[in-house]
Amino acid sequence: MEAILEKLANPGFDLDQVRSDFAYLELPGPIIYLDNAATTQRPNQVIERMDHFYRFENGNPLRGTHRLGTTATEAMLESRKKVARFIGSKSEKEIIFTRNASESLNLIAYAWGLNNLQAGDQILITRMEHHSNFVNWQFVAQKTGAKLAFIELTDDYQLDMQDYRDKISERTKIVAFSAASNVLGTIPDAAAIICIAKEYNALTVVDAAQLVPHTKVNVRELDCDFLVFSGHKMLGPLGIGVLYGKAEILLEMTPFLYGGEMIEYVEDYESTFAQLPYKFEAGTQDVGGMVGLAAAIEYLEAIGLDKIAAYETALTDYCVAKLEELPYIEIYHPQQGAKGPAIAFNVKNAHPHDVATILDYHGVAIRAGHHCTQPLHRYLGQNSTNRASFAFYNTKEEIDLFIEALEDVKKIMQIDI
Ligand code: ALA
Repeated sequence: MEAILEKLANPGFDLDQVRSDFAYLELPGPIIYLDNAATTQRPNQVIERMDHFYRFENGNPLRGTHRLGTTATEAMLESRKKVARFIGSKSEKEIIFTRNASESLNLIAYAWGLNNLQAGDQILITRMEHHSNFVNWQFVAQKTGAKLAFIELTDDYQLDMQDYRDKISERTKIVAFSAASNVLGTIPDAAAIICIAKEYNALTVVDAAQLVPHTKVNVRELDCDFLVFSGHKMLGPLGIGVLYGKAEILLEMTPFLYGGEMIEYVEDYESTFAQLPYKFEAGTQDVGGMVGLAAAIEYLEAIGLDKIAAYETALTDYCVAKLEELPYIEIYHPQQGAKGPAIAFNVKNAHPHDVATILDYHGVAIRAGHHCTQPLHRYLGQNSTNRASFAFYNTKEEIDLFIEALEDVKKIMQIDI
């Protein structure tokens, strides 16, 4: 605990300065925002960058030959470069802009899954997937006849690597997994998962929506085939997401969406398609979102993802330790291994929605529900849970207030444990 308190007192960056960048903290009344896994808040720098784009750089990207068309195109190119560098991609051509991680995962399912899978093939996913990396594969399995299989969890809420080894086979064509659980916080060993998938020539799809905001991710080091994430979970705007794919795989894929700017030639009865990445970006793109995402990346990099990860780990460990002191709390979070800043828990004998509502009276924002993971919740034996999730702008004092507010839940709900 001493080391945790030391890290919380000395995060290695100017926490007061950071907090002054977030306008939501100026709202009257306490706002203790612990719902960062759902969406983060945005610093002023991101909002100002988007504002500047819409005021002074706005035109239709890739189309305008005039000054404002050019500034919009340049903003798009610069943003794509920034994203490519951020995740270590070797080329901007491997960065496809989408609306969010869900759309990126749908793109893979439609444009790769439907065309490359057949009866007898296996799609391997994990028990802790978000519906975005679950329902899309159910759809592909139903359409192609491929079989969907699940890597189960250990008693410590970690991915069971033995179960993975037992289930993967020559029939496995795709291994799609979350790099950080949005509920449990579990961070599986992505490099090991990918390495094993390669032994069987299976493609790998990494849902990094909950990892990219918190830890440095490098797609070349991971050597994954696809990786997806959302802007809004990493200080960026709502409505912009990323699909990274290896160029050689993207080149072989058919488009997902059809229309403007994704074509090369359009004949009466058939068309040829644009080069990467434009083949996958039909219609006018959200450049306002792209510049916002690029500004978010700049913000994260200026603080340093290593510092962010270390501080958020301290926040999470501190909160787990405090929750463990409360006998009426049940926690769903690994004890061992790497963990992200999300903790699922329940107050015994209280409905998660009641808990979240009472906490809201105290200004504490957490999530209640199944968090888009119904199969995981069935495994947990719960219809729903509460979840506290942190970002680097949270503080130890906020966690103390959260814990105090839980004591009030106990009182109001008359929990006698
Ligand atoms: N995927 C988001 C969450 O976990 C919405 O809350």
